[in-house]
Amino acid sequence: MGRERNVDPVIIVIFGASGDLTARKVLPALYNLFLDDFLPSQYAILGVSRTGFSDEAFRDHLRSGVEKYSRRGMPNDEQWNEFAGNIRYMQAEYDDPALYHKLIGLPDETWSTPPNIIFYLATPPNLFPLIINQLGQFSNLRGDVRYRIVIEKPFGRDLLSARKLNNQLTQAFEERQIYRIDHYLGKETVQNILAFRFGNAVWEPIWNRNFIDHIQITVAEQIGIGRRGGYYETAGALRDMMQNHLMQLLCFMAMEPPTSFHADEIRNKKVDVMHAIRLISQEEVPRYAVRGQYGEGVLDGKRVPSYRMEVGVRAASNTETFAALKLFIDNWRWQGVPFYLRTGKRMPARVSEISLQFRPVPHHPFSHLNTQLFQPNRLVIQIEPNEGIVLRTQAKEPGLGMKLKQVDMHYSYREVFHTESPDAYETLLVDIMRNDPALFMRADQVEAAWAVLTPILEVWQNNQELNFPNYQPGQWGPPEAEHLIAQDRRTWLSPVCLEPKRG
Ligand SMILES: NC(=O)c1ccc[n+]([C@@H]2O[C@H](COP(=O)([O-])OP(=O)(O)OC[C@H]3O[C@@H](n4cnc5c(N)ncnc54)[C@H](OP(=O)(O)O)[C@@H]3O)[C@@H](O)[C@H]2O)c1
Repeated sequence: MGRERNVDPVIIVIFGASGDLTARKVLPALYNLFLDDFLPSQYAILGVSRTGFSDEAFRDHLRSGVEKYSRRGMPNDEQWNEFAGNIRYMQAEYDDPALYHKLIGLPDETWSTPPNIIFYLATPPNLFPLIINQLGQFSNLRGDVRYRIVIEKPFGRDLLSARKLNNQLTQAFEERQIYRIDHYLGKETVQNILAFRFGNAVWEPIWNRNFIDHIQITVAEQIGIGRRGGYYETAGALRDMMQNHLMQLLCFMAMEPPTSFHADEIRNKKVDVMHAIRLISQEEVPRYAVRGQYGEGVLDGKRVPSYRMEVGVRAASNTETFAALKLFIDNWRWQGVPFYLRTGKRMPARVSEISLQFRPVPHHPFSHLNTQLFQPNRLVIQIEPNEGIVLRTQAKEPGLGMKLKQVDMHYSYREVFHTESPDAYETLLVDIMRNDPALFMRADQVEAAWAVLTPILEVWQNNQELNFPNYQPGQWGPPEAEHLIAQDRRTWLSPVCLEPKRG
């Protein structure tokens, strides 16, 4: 029996279909779902954008995307042709009302049951309001969950713009029809945080201020901004990464145990965390937030340009390519535990890790040993490039006498499950088709995240950073990032994946 029986017939309309995201992520994910029998037996994919593709040219364009970006590589001709037979293209302008009449009228008598229609907005964000308003003209869409809308990040630029976009969206669709994508939430390891925390009894008693000294979240990229200069100039690290990916990771780490995995239960628990984050006043920003921008230099033996020399970037750009924050969560569980978050481009490695640093042991019974040898326990959740979990503990070194050594207990997804994880977009697209929004951001979550970051954005916008560029490619951001954590007598922990493997 095919797994597709869980999903109703579907038409997926992709706006911005000629673009990078469609070729790089959405189509390869849909193709993999087709191969794994997760697409319903009746489906159609309709690409919409201004470029003048024929159906055939559009399919060829998508096929090269699959070849280049799919985890499975080159498609097999027979399978691809079967899949691609259901792909069509429509050249259109988004302000043309006739386009939307055609889209709404798509299901014809060839459909055995009325299909769900998913509108996937993969356009630049400035086009979201136009498309939403056009769809909003059809009042019958609102409240009918056969119609769903998917919005890519970034969702707004600050609290006000996110609220405005939410208002527009909720005039055209009900919240249960809206899927705001943060692809980080589709990653296996990120979902595994929930399994790890709430499927094991051992962690909950120590998952709090009594045992945890602090938590660090690092999401680092080695790449620069490549050809995305135009977009990145309007965003920066805080908007591009912190507001969504890192804040969502923080919520998973800090949320209270849910009573079920119902979408609203998970999202309620996450939004509780957001609301408990202590707001940083504009005066406090320099003590809690650090920004950086990369200069030119050498990374992995290759000369790389400074951010200001990248295509589409202003010569005196003040946009940050690195951001670090210290946040506190004012609730019973986390009072006094700092969460240090950092993200940046042109870092030493592509790595995403979360570290829980436990408190030191209350008493050292090995009094004859140098206490420097005692390292507090550390639990590391690895998201990229390896997916796994590491628990760093102390062990007795073999031999006469008592000598302690740090050792790691670790499991890697690949080694344990001998299988490749699905791409995040595969997971998320299946959830959209099944109408399960648990892994998507609700309006109040997005706004709460913006509420935390908006004071920082305002201070940074109103005060030019005079020292940009302030870090070299291959560094973990500017020296101020070290000061941010060193003022608390702590240090950024080196990612476990960059260390030699321990016993
Ligand atoms: N690329 C990624 O990896 C990635 C990752 C996460 C999120 N996102 C988000 O996903 C969305 C799409 O990203 P993308 O990288 O695919 O964008 P993109 O390649 O820059 O644009 C997508 C398509 O939109 C159309 N478009 C561009 N400017 C337009 C304009 N002024 N008026 C009308 N149409 C215009 C273009 O198609 P036509 O010229 O043919 O109309 C273009 O092919 C964005 O919101 C982005 O932030 C992208």
